Amino acid sequence: MSELSPLTIETVKATIPVLREYGDTITAKMYDILFENYPETKSMFSSAPDEQPKVLAGAVSAYAMNIDNLDALSDAVGKMASTHVRTSVKPEHYPMVGESLLAAMTEVLGDAATPEILDSWGEAFFFLGDILIAKEKELYAQT
Ligand code: HEM
Repeated sequence: MSELSPLTIETVKATIPVLREYGDTITAKMYDILFENYPETKSMFSSAPDEQPKVLAGAVSAYAMNIDNLDALSDAVGKMASTHVRTSVKPEHYPMVGESLLAAMTEVLGDAATPEILDSWGEAFFFLGDILIAKEKELYAQT
């Protein structure tokens, strides 16, 4: 598996305090943008929509904190992948969520969302996305 660049790791870690403060706002905005641009994804989300931003923000923060120690996330990855398979998440959904996440960061953080931060988060999102997609492929093959 290819690795994240040291600059990406450093940049993602540097944004942890920002995520602590704005994570819920960014993820709430991300769902607004996702459902507006890709309404077909809306029905995939069933339970407690108010809780979803916190869950995703928590996952993203945990990821940022462990970005140089991804083994620590394997239980979390297994849980996310099995929920995703249960809700029929497919590889083609990842670019929709990634694009919506970066658009939400831009909207919420304004000028603080520098091109460097957005590039690093884009790279980090798809890196985690590829790990999830691979795990989900395994689980789909078993069902
Ligand atoms: C790197 C990207 C992603 C991360 C970090 C992530 C994270 C999570 C987490 C932590 C959960 C809760 C799992 C649990 O506790 O059971 C979850 C659930 C879910 N995710 Fe993702 N996810 C990602 C990508 C996606 C994509 C691309 C979609 C497709 C639109 C998606 C749709 C869902 C759905 C439908 C649920 C269940 C929500 C519900 O029960 O209402 N996720 N995700």
